[in-house]
Amino acid sequence: MRIGILGAGGMADALGTQWARAGHELMVSGRDLSAGEARAANMTAQADGAVVRAGSWAEAAEFGEVAMVAVRQAGLVGVLRAVGTALRGKPVIDVANAEGPYDPTRPIAPMIGDLTGGHVVKAFNLCHVDVWRMTPPVFDGRPLAVPLCGDDPAALAAVRTLVADLGCTPVDGGGLERAMLLEATAAFMIGLWFGGADAQAVLPPLSHSGVS
Ligand SMILES: NC(=O)c1ccc[n+]([C@@H]2O[C@H](COP(=O)([O-])OP(=O)(O)OC[C@H]3O[C@@H](n4cnc5c(N)ncnc54)[C@H](OP(=O)(O)O)[C@@H]3O)[C@@H](O)[C@H]2O)c1
Repeated sequence: MRIGILGAGGMADALGTQWARAGHELMVSGRDLSAGEARAANMTAQADGAVVRAGSWAEAAEFGEVAMVAVRQAGLVGVLRAVGTALRGKPVIDVANAEGPYDPTRPIAPMIGDLTGGHVVKAFNLCHVDVWRMTPPVFDGRPLAVPLCGDDPAALAAVRTLVADLGCTPVDGGGLERAMLLEATAAFMIGLWFGGADAQAVLPPLSHSGVS
């Protein structure tokens, strides 16, 4: 599929390179064209011959059958205003986490939907960028599971494919109204990690979840 990436930073590079290797066509965009071009050249070099293009925010949004928003929170509103109506009706992957304390009264995912008119799927926000560079991300013999929150069946199907392309397992996380729970979970887990705790260790396996 054609994927337009808003952002030319770490997440754009990590996920975009994997998708380029999997055969998808990509266009990345950054704050200025040279940032996008530099990132695209780096991705092309890493992606087994796949060519990654660079363009403006609006060009990347137009290019994509699917878009990924991978911009720092501080720049989100400005970037999404710059793309105009180009994302209307398209699957839009939201990987964003809050900078600073998470404010549950201002969830990010629905804001992206309101500004773009796109079918937002929240995904990939729970793991550090270096995890998305792993080929594949497997821990203790288990492929990483990636929860998805979104409402549109076609958008969810597209993102499930992109999760599988990483060697990960997509998990249904419910509708977009639950995306804020993924945002809050990331904030909580990041707090544990920065405190030196193993966040993975706080949850029991399914067999001990109380669900019979
Ligand atoms: N890094 C992680 O481990 C990780 C993991 C999960 C989720 N996320 C989320 O993924 C998103 C992208 O993260 P990242 O690590 O890729 O970030 P990044 O490398 O710092 O930057 C991503 C993009 O945002 C742009 N940007 C930054 N401030 C901006 C502003 N004020 N206006 C317009 N554009 C701006 C950057 O432009 P410049 O290059 O010109 O600064 C870059 O193109 C964030 O929402 C983050 O919370 C990150």
